[in-house]
Amino acid sequence: MRERIRSVIRAVPDYPKPGIVFRDITPLLADGDAFAEAINSFVERYRNAGLTKIVGIEARGFIFGTALAYALGIGFVPLRKPGKLPAKTLQQRYSLEYGEDALEIHTDALGAHDHVLIIDDLLATGGTVLAAVDLVKQTGASLQECAFVISLDQLPGVDRLQQAAIPYYTLCRF
Ligand code: PRP
Ligand code: HPA
Repeated sequence: MRERIRSVIRAVPDYPKPGIVFRDITPLLADGDAFAEAINSFVERYRNAGLTKIVGIEARGFIFGTALAYALGIGFVPLRKPGKLPAKTLQQRYSLEYGEDALEIHTDALGAHDHVLIIDDLLATGGTVLAAVDLVKQTGASLQECAFVISLDQLPGVDRLQQAAIPYYTLCRF
């Protein structure tokens, strides 16, 4: 467990709704040493993994994913909310607590020659990352694992990934 990183994640009570304790990464991003420790932790783990691309989930996965891709000297592929990517896309819908959303990837962003890491800031119900895994599989790319800064272990995401036999790595558990 990365105590320094954990210590700069702010708990915001009752956001976005009463009863929810929101884990806010903005103080971590503002602390250069803590942000570097987070990226370096991922670099250590993945530097010899044979990755060809980092796949980041909109929006906060872009922050960690682009820094990691740069540090590893490989490319970055964004998974975006619907209607944001300009060329031909694949789409995967997923359930939110109330309603639905979807992620998209450009059809030519990845291929069977790619070996990728999916990264996001946080794992909660797992709906978002499971949609990301489906999209990566549809492209024919292989998946190393899914990486998070935070996992909320009272929520179903951890179990859903384990049940689907999708490996994951997290820096901090709450
Ligand atoms: C948050 C978070 C993850 C997702 C995790 O993003 O950054 O992407 O929720 O939740 P889940 O495990 O229950 O799917 P959000 O949907 O708030 O989008 P945003 O980053 O664009 O604000
Ligand atoms: N923090 C940030 N994003 C989230 C959270 C949270 O606690 N829960 C679901 N998405």
